[in-house]
Amino acid sequence: MLVRGGRIVDPRQRLDALRDLRTEGDRIVEIGEHLRARAGEETIDAVGWVVAPGFIDAHVHLREPGFEAKETLASGTAAAVRGGFTTLCAMPNTEPAIDGVEMVARVGFPAPNRERGVLARIFPIAAMTRARAGREVLDYPSLVAAGAVAFSDDGSTVADARVMREVLRALAPLDRPAIVHAEDAALKGSGVMHEGAVSARLGVPGSPASAEESIVARDLILALEVGARVHIAHVSTARSMELIVWARERRARVTCEVTPHHLLFTDEAVEEFGARAKVNPPLRTAADARALRDAVRAGAIDFFASDHAPHTDAEKSGDLAHAAVGFTGLEIAVGAYARALPDLPMSDFVALCSTRAAEVLRLPGGTLAVGAPADITMFSERPWRVDPARFASKGRATPFEGWELPRCVEATVVAGRVAYRAEGGTSGS
Ligand code: DOR
Repeated sequence: MLVRGGRIVDPRQRLDALRDLRTEGDRIVEIGEHLRARAGEETIDAVGWVVAPGFIDAHVHLREPGFEAKETLASGTAAAVRGGFTTLCAMPNTEPAIDGVEMVARVGFPAPNRERGVLARIFPIAAMTRARAGREVLDYPSLVAAGAVAFSDDGSTVADARVMREVLRALAPLDRPAIVHAEDAALKGSGVMHEGAVSARLGVPGSPASAEESIVARDLILALEVGARVHIAHVSTARSMELIVWARERRARVTCEVTPHHLLFTDEAVEEFGARAKVNPPLRTAADARALRDAVRAGAIDFFASDHAPHTDAEKSGDLAHAAVGFTGLEIAVGAYARALPDLPMSDFVALCSTRAAEVLRLPGGTLAVGAPADITMFSERPWRVDPARFASKGRATPFEGWELPRCVEATVVAGRVAYRAEGGTSGS
């Protein structure tokens, strides 16, 4: 395949230039100027588009096995490629949880698999404790050998600090991070949104910022003590960011991610949209969202992640207290990141969408270098409107419904094959 005339942005190669790019089979074989199409070669006219290494979403819930009404590997990867993602890391809060080698092997797809309907690469994140129950440490080396790229009880926090220290001790020699879902269950109580002026006005129980921050502090201190790697998932408060910076200054091996919704929404969205804006960690204050955007600009966030958490329409309708927590994210993420940070340099944007996650989680890809996997995300600055009826994900609820987003995925290539092509793009052949 020949991709012609695009602006190739590859932070790993420090490349930002108009170039042509050739793939053969599932690899990138050539980048150059004025490459000529060979007989029978598929060509993509990318004039006006950015051509980037395939985007990686390192925090998604694909729901298989156990919750196929919410999402499947097929529908989730269809949503991924529409959203520009060629690689996903799937969280283990399935039923049963992904806590054994057979399960890891079952949901891992290091290459797409058309017979199975898997359009993107899937790398499993295994549970941190047996059945995600927060009590029993697992055999991490065998899970890594089976294909796990990290460990997390995401959706819950390991409440017992002693168990968490044991987890981190066991992980320390493996150079694979513990991905921390930071939410102290006791402080959270029955909270259904951020505890603050809006929750008080609505008369609903809130989860305070300290429920997140106290666990972030605890796990950073434990990581410093035992020398393990921790990755703080979906950072949502200004103080969590301050704690991460504090730990980095002390040479903790800590990385972190931020979601589109925490960059753009506040707890006021819950007043406006109700259950559609219910998510963990909850949407916080304007000052928190601003601090997260500042942290991205300052280089303190390692990568973007959508926390794609699809639920059925029925689960997301109903009242705030009973509605499911989380919402679909893969198909709005790229546009939303651009809307949150319109002035971010393009190479930083691509690094946050691809390169850095590949480095942190040691995934293939993240670059368009010759010899790298032919995973390519092409996008333009064509504005588009979020219409959940057009989603490939089974999850339709999103607070972004109806928003106009300024960046649009035009084509997604996975392992050398076009997995998605937008309608109405300005380029094309
Ligand atoms: O909103 C959320 N939904 N946050 C989580 O951590 C879990 C997720 C889910 O699995 O639905």
